[in-house]
Amino acid sequence: MNIILIGPPGSGKGTQAVKISEKYKIAHISTGDLLREISKSGSELGNRLKRIMTEGKLIPDDVVINLIEQRITDKGFVLDGFPRTLNQAKMLGKIAAIDAVLFFDLPDKEAVRRLSKRRQCRSCNRVYNEGASKCVCGSQLYQRDDDKEEAIRERLKVYQSETKPLLQHYKSRMKRIDASQSVEKVFKDVCGILSSLRV
Ligand code: AP5
Repeated sequence: MNIILIGPPGSGKGTQAVKISEKYKIAHISTGDLLREISKSGSELGNRLKRIMTEGKLIPDDVVINLIEQRITDKGFVLDGFPRTLNQAKMLGKIAAIDAVLFFDLPDKEAVRRLSKRRQCRSCNRVYNEGASKCVCGSQLYQRDDDKEEAIRERLKVYQSETKPLLQHYKSRMKRIDASQSVEKVFKDVCGILSSLRV
């Protein structure tokens, strides 16, 4: 099964992608995590990506598309954070058939609240809320540079202008999920939709 998750920053795409990947035994491909890994490398490209991400802007399509092309296989995947532009969606359509497009709908106010409290593991990228001290893998947690209020506002703006138009592109296959519910309830809705699509 090939699944795409679309939703504003903080809508729980990463949280749910981990659960979907475990339950359905498919690969979890997060462009955000892949880009953050490169940005830690200290290379010229890494430093350029870090600057763009810290400002809350999008990485150029050619860089992200190249990353995705290297990782897509025919064994099934859940894409978390890709596609994010119409150009990316068109490219994806050429290399893979998409079975489900899940739209995580969340008001901006709640997205800002969640992101300002988010902490992430430096090692395995698992996400937590403020107050958690260490990851289950034993590594330290940190606050992402783009989880500061100004960057969050910019990311929400970019989502509205660049990514939200994808909902129209995927209109016939897109299923809306109320992402303001608890993690468990959102996952129940996700599983309900995915089971109805499986033959
Ligand atoms: P990326 O890492 O993909 O960030 P994002 O899309 O902004 O999404 P987030 O990771 O912020 O949120 P999420 O929806 O995954 O929510 P999460 O589960 O963590 O991208 C970062 C940057 O990389 C971009 O800004 C861009 O620069 C670049 N980039 C990435 N992909 C790109 C692409 N395709 N093209 C160009 N550039 C690209 O949850 C958030 C918080 O809420 C957590 O603390 C979590 O514990 C909590 N939470 C989750 N669900 C719930 C719930 N149901 N109830 C209460 N709390 C919850």
